[in-house]
Amino acid sequence: MDDACSHRLAPLSQGRIDQWGRLQCVYHGWCFSGSGDCKFIPQAPRDKLHVHTSKRACVAVYPSFVQNDILWFWPNTDPLYKDIHLSKTPPYIPPLDDLTSYAKTTLVRDIPYGRWLTKYGGAQVDWGTKFTGDLQPTPAREQLLDRYWTHTINCSSCSRAYKSLNVLEIIMQIISVASIGIAAAAKESVMSIAARYSLVFLALLCFMASRWLSKFIYKSFHFHDYDHAFC
Ligand code: FES
Repeated sequence: MDDACSHRLAPLSQGRIDQWGRLQCVYHGWCFSGSGDCKFIPQAPRDKLHVHTSKRACVAVYPSFVQNDILWFWPNTDPLYKDIHLSKTPPYIPPLDDLTSYAKTTLVRDIPYGRWLTKYGGAQVDWGTKFTGDLQPTPAREQLLDRYWTHTINCSSCSRAYKSLNVLEIIMQIISVASIGIAAAAKESVMSIAARYSLVFLALLCFMASRWLSKFIYKSFHFHDYDHAFC
């Protein structure tokens, strides 16, 4: 198949075969069957798990054929040539199957990512051989995509912005509660109906703004779910 992942064109030759026999891209883990169909996108949102069925997620495959332990392929991905090996069979060389006359050597290419994974993964993942399924349990999404402990707390500008926005959120909540309290407690002779409605409106406005700010703070400084699959 093409040595280019349909996601971000990473070289699929640096991927690995997972326990289901699928080729898994080394970058973001998209998985492909032998016919080039995308079978799994780890980052797909739970309510859109079918996204891998899109044609755009597939990888082009070349018709291939093994004979005499040699892999032959036809350099054209047009489905027209899918069964080309039936009409254009590669030459059969009987002596190559005679192991008394020929020795075979198996080579394994050590890829840079393998070394990188071994170094930073504490050799917990054996990327160099066929995957056996022995992986550490996947941490929770919130832990994997955590922003607070991995960045916010260590970045002076983010940390300052985080504190200021939290203070702003609290101020808006205080204004909201105080406005409602004043509107409810003030006597009719002291406060007009219009002023009372204005205070209630202000309370609602501050409440909604503080809710929005709270979500913004969480998304920007704590955790933002990964939606790279659609990029
Ligand atoms: S480049 Fe292959 S999964 Fe992202």
